[in-house]
Amino acid sequence: MNTNKPNIKPDNPNFSSGPTTKRPGWTTTHLQFALLGRSHRSPECKAQLKEVIEKSKKILSLPNNYLLGIMPGSDTGALEAAMWCMLGKRGIDILAWENFGKDWVTDVVDQLKIKDRNVHLADYGALPDLSKVNFTNDVIFTWNGTTSGVKVPNGDWIPSEREGLTICDATSAIFAMPIDYEKCDVITWSWQKVLGGEAAHGMLALSPRAVERLTTYVPKWPIPKAFRLANNKKLISGIFEGNTINTPSMLSVEDILDTLLWVERLGGLNELFKRSDRSLKYIADWIKNNPSFEFMNPNEQTRSNTGITFQIKENWFKNLDEAKQRKIMSEIVSLLAKEKIANDINGYPKAPPSFRVWGGGTVEPRNVEKLLPWIKWAVEEIKLQFNE
Ligand SMILES: Cc1ncc(COP(=O)(O)O)c(C=O)c1O
Repeated sequence: MNTNKPNIKPDNPNFSSGPTTKRPGWTTTHLQFALLGRSHRSPECKAQLKEVIEKSKKILSLPNNYLLGIMPGSDTGALEAAMWCMLGKRGIDILAWENFGKDWVTDVVDQLKIKDRNVHLADYGALPDLSKVNFTNDVIFTWNGTTSGVKVPNGDWIPSEREGLTICDATSAIFAMPIDYEKCDVITWSWQKVLGGEAAHGMLALSPRAVERLTTYVPKWPIPKAFRLANNKKLISGIFEGNTINTPSMLSVEDILDTLLWVERLGGLNELFKRSDRSLKYIADWIKNNPSFEFMNPNEQTRSNTGITFQIKENWFKNLDEAKQRKIMSEIVSLLAKEKIANDINGYPKAPPSFRVWGGGTVEPRNVEKLLPWIKWAVEEIKLQFNE
């Protein structure tokens, strides 16, 4: 019998990596003034959509000469719009070290069928060799690999003088860690990630070089309306002023504005970074004292403070085949959900069997601290059943 059952529960059991938990103090009453039942083209709705753009730019301190727009289809929509509208002029170097990066490889290889390409892959827990990337090509990469807990260490590996464009999926990085914006010509994210907003809306930031590509080049493939950023080499500039391509949810708009206001009240971007760093530190300190666990990413420099992934290191578990390990992981996380301690902390289905605890700024770091003894307890509980 495992007698070490902790008695302090996290105040909020939501540690999902997306949609992530709502900001502390959030209730539906914060949505009561949403502009529902109104045309999104009305001056009032357009003003709100523009406010999302302007507040996001200000909080992030995006360079003044970058454009920012709201896109359909969440981060995926924003990134694929950039790919469909901009690629094909040059060769491509594409990097992937977890599930989502690999989705963008599929787009380049199987959908757009771009032949002149270098694919840089790495296993879960590692980064590809960044020194091998050819920046005369367009480069596609993910700043933070959500499903493996591996981020790029900084933007130093990207030259300021480059011929190709850099297209960065920053969805699980932005608002949680510094991003070298000037090294990224395209930056995408969604509302449902670090800000705990609602799903289905994406953000697309463009450098002047990215805009130049849109206004001087037309790809040879068709571009669906939801991805179309330019018409006959003319930028559809309304997208960057709150004139969305199609109908947005004004409920989600109200919600993201509420969260952006919360970030301002909190003290801005650095306070969000600190919250994520604190969550990661609680886990790092705990792993130091609990040799039964290890990070999936052994390198501290590239370890994510949002999708924080770690594994059971004990032999009874490691010696099992993968199917049995997955079964045990699912028993452990079900036990934690049943006890109302943690929801959605099983690793990504395609990642090695692991825990993944979200550390974005809407999570209270203290709740991460309270969660950890419960994880240890649940593992021991399931291990006892396994040995019986
Ligand atoms: C790195 C990365 N890219 C893309 C996505 C897809 O995001 P969305 O469903 O918001 O389009 C995710 C979602 O977890 C992600 O982590």
